[in-house]
Amino acid sequence: MVIAVNLTVFNKALRPMIGLVTAALLLVLCAGNARAQQDLPDPTDGHRVLRDNAPKTMPAPTEPQTFGGFPEAPPFTVVPREGELSIYPCATCHGPMPTNASPRKLFAPHPAALEHGDGRFWCLQCHAPEERNQLQLMSDETVGFNDSWQLCGQCHYQPQKDWAFGAHGKRVDNWQGERVLYNCTHCHDPHSPNIKPRAPEPPPPVRAGLEAMPHAPHKAETEQQ
Ligand code: HEC
Ligand code: HEC
Ligand code: HEC
Ligand code: HEC
Repeated sequence: MVIAVNLTVFNKALRPMIGLVTAALLLVLCAGNARAQQDLPDPTDGHRVLRDNAPKTMPAPTEPQTFGGFPEAPPFTVVPREGELSIYPCATCHGPMPTNASPRKLFAPHPAALEHGDGRFWCLQCHAPEERNQLQLMSDETVGFNDSWQLCGQCHYQPQKDWAFGAHGKRVDNWQGERVLYNCTHCHDPHSPNIKPRAPEPPPPVRAGLEAMPHAPHKAETEQQ
């Protein structure tokens, strides 16, 4: 009974009032929103409205820069590679030969299979199609075989940075004197770059009069058997 009376009162008096208050609130909110939007950059002005609380003053965007090496890294030179290649210069054959860019199996002395990149690229990703004595960067610039570390760094940025600062790879001789680094291709075959497992050296011989201790197999050896 009490509830019924209350409901009638509610319907007759309160409902229209609630409606009015809500409408007024909405109006205030819309007006506020319109004012807030006036302060933001015009969305048709090449800007996208991000959030209403975006900082009003944004620092000017910086100019994009091409990779200029690692200026903070200690200066270095790289051990040259060209003299180590078995069939360099390439242009003795390739000079007069037309480029054939279709991926196919090649014969020795060329690497038959490319075990690098999981099928994502082929030879001409790295070897300049026209100037075969050169390697080609993605910027269409070419670098010599002595600078192949620049080629590798396009896709392996972190190892290249570690290498330039001395945390990857190896430095010639010792820590003193001129800083000369071994190139990536001293250790990694670019056509199959994973470092292959090596067989361990045999144990040293025992002195005359002594007997070698029985060889306890390693865990890996027991697993193989
Ligand atoms: C003794 C001659 C000779 C030399 C030197 C030579 N090549 Fe080639 N190369 C060939 C021949 C022939 C083919 C085509 C093979 C085929 O079609 O099966 C070829 C094909 C290629 C291809 C496949 C793309 C294309 O244009 O056909 C690449 C990449 C390549 N050579 C890279 C090199 C590089 C890099 C060097 C130098 C380090 C080099 N070659 C040196 C003879 C040579
Ligand atoms: C990831 C980049 C890359 C790709 C892909 C690549 N090469 Fe190379 N290639 C190199 C680099 C770097 C060297 C220099 C190696 C060194 O310094 O020992 C080289 C060396 C060579 C040489 C000279 C080897 C020697 O000892 O004389 C030949 C020939 C060659 N590449 C052919 C090819 C062919 C053919 C393909 C495709 C099947 C291919 N390369 C794919 C980067 C690449
Ligand atoms: C165009 C891009 C590209 C370039 C240039 C390139 N790589 Fe790679 N490399 C890859 C990709 C993608 C993989 C991973 C796929 C695979 O396992 O082959 C890879 C794999 C590797 C691996 C094995 C990594 C692992 O975790 O197993 C090594 C080592 C490597 N590259 C070294 C080199 C060296 C050295 C050079 C320069 C001669 C080079 N790469 C140039 C794309 C590139
Ligand atoms: C002195 C030898 C040496 C030199 C020089 C060297 N590396 Fe390596 N790199 C290694 C060894 C060893 C490993 C570890 C092998 C493994 O885990 O299979 C490795 C691992 C890698 C890997 C795979 C592991 C990872 O961190 O993702 C990449 C990619 C690589 N090196 C790229 C490069 C590049 C690019 C350069 C040149 C800028 C370079 N390396 C120079 C010896 C070398």
